[in-house]
Amino acid sequence: MHRVYMDANATTPLLPEVMESMRPYWMEHFGNASSIHQHGQQARTAVDRARETMARFFKCHDAEVVFNSGGTEGDNTAIFGLLHPGDHFVTTSIEHSAILEAAKRLARHGIETTFVAPLPSGLIDPVDIRRAIRPETRLISVMLANNETGVIQPVEEIGRIAGETGIFFHIDGVQGAGKIELDVRRIGCHLLSISAHKMHGPKGIGAMFVRRGTPVEPLLVGGSHERRQRAGTENVAGIVGLAKAAELAAHSLDDGTIDRLAILRDRLEAGILEIPGTGVNGAYPPRTVGAPEPALSLSKGPSHLGTWDTTAPVPRAANTSNIFFDQLEGEALVIALDMKGVSISGGSACHSGATEPSHVLMAMGLDKNRARASLRFSLLKTATEADVDHVLRIVPEAVEHLRALSPVVAGTPG
Ligand SMILES: Cc1ncc(COP(=O)(O)O)c(C=O)c1O
Repeated sequence: MHRVYMDANATTPLLPEVMESMRPYWMEHFGNASSIHQHGQQARTAVDRARETMARFFKCHDAEVVFNSGGTEGDNTAIFGLLHPGDHFVTTSIEHSAILEAAKRLARHGIETTFVAPLPSGLIDPVDIRRAIRPETRLISVMLANNETGVIQPVEEIGRIAGETGIFFHIDGVQGAGKIELDVRRIGCHLLSISAHKMHGPKGIGAMFVRRGTPVEPLLVGGSHERRQRAGTENVAGIVGLAKAAELAAHSLDDGTIDRLAILRDRLEAGILEIPGTGVNGAYPPRTVGAPEPALSLSKGPSHLGTWDTTAPVPRAANTSNIFFDQLEGEALVIALDMKGVSISGGSACHSGATEPSHVLMAMGLDKNRARASLRFSLLKTATEADVDHVLRIVPEAVEHLRALSPVVAGTPG
């Protein structure tokens, strides 16, 4: 059976070049990068080169790159490494659980968190971030692109607010990296976390930009690795693979691959929206299919304190589309599509066996039924026209079949 994978926001496969770059570091160049002999020095050189590549990717200095195990560790490091009892933390209600669960733990240590809600479009209004700030606020953390809707947040505007108020600013860049260009100086953040496996690199490896002088305590202590910012023998093969994936991702932004991806995503979206009772979550105002995504920055200049324009177009990551299918249970559609050879995810997360509607979609104001009836299509950058055609052949049929079997009344409060 022809299988199509459209769950890139969950994870992505290695690109062959990434695999090839890593291979020697598991076998012949297996040394410990801390050893002084030649085996060690080969590994050290590879880590140093990878650090230079990541510095170019973030547009920062080499000494501001810290390798870690991925997005969860980066998110946790920012929070637990910067906040102390009595501090206040500002984040959003649409963050990944790596932020939300860490914030829950803070409460036990006398650190209060304000969760800023998004606009119905899925966009965080920087004015709401500013309003949440208190004299004791020490850290703001906002994601670059939402993993469920792909909505790109106005991080430059939030960076300006952080700069003006002297508050540390962390960005969960996991879903934005490789989809939009990063420039940590322009954004004005102190910390930014990324993960290799979301951009065709290996799992269990990531990196963090840490602006020089940011007093973040390491999460892991032990050896003096990573300038004492992250103890543990370096995962040399993983680090090499991350750097290769980042290099290829930067290339894809320049060579038109990501623009092509947006066109494919739009075609998929337009095709699915022909099914009655469907719509896009996180695109406002309703976008003309084929029109370019709005520009990344929604900035209105420094110190903007007025009302944010809630009717302004919302930019999204090129590969993501979150669609509701009224009168359907999203999970049933995920299973039906899986049986027909299409791998996608629901907009809902499964917690201890009970299917809860997505916290992101609920925060955007969807009712429970519509949130449960929503699916996320996230395309790999290697996606083809044939993949989209395949999905467009299967989805309408599956939706019609399921709706006929078990009609769920949508739009009723649940
Ligand atoms: C926005 C976001 N942050 C953090 C993470 C966690 O990253 P990792 O899987 O590398 O721990 C994910 C992964 O799904 C994510 O989508």
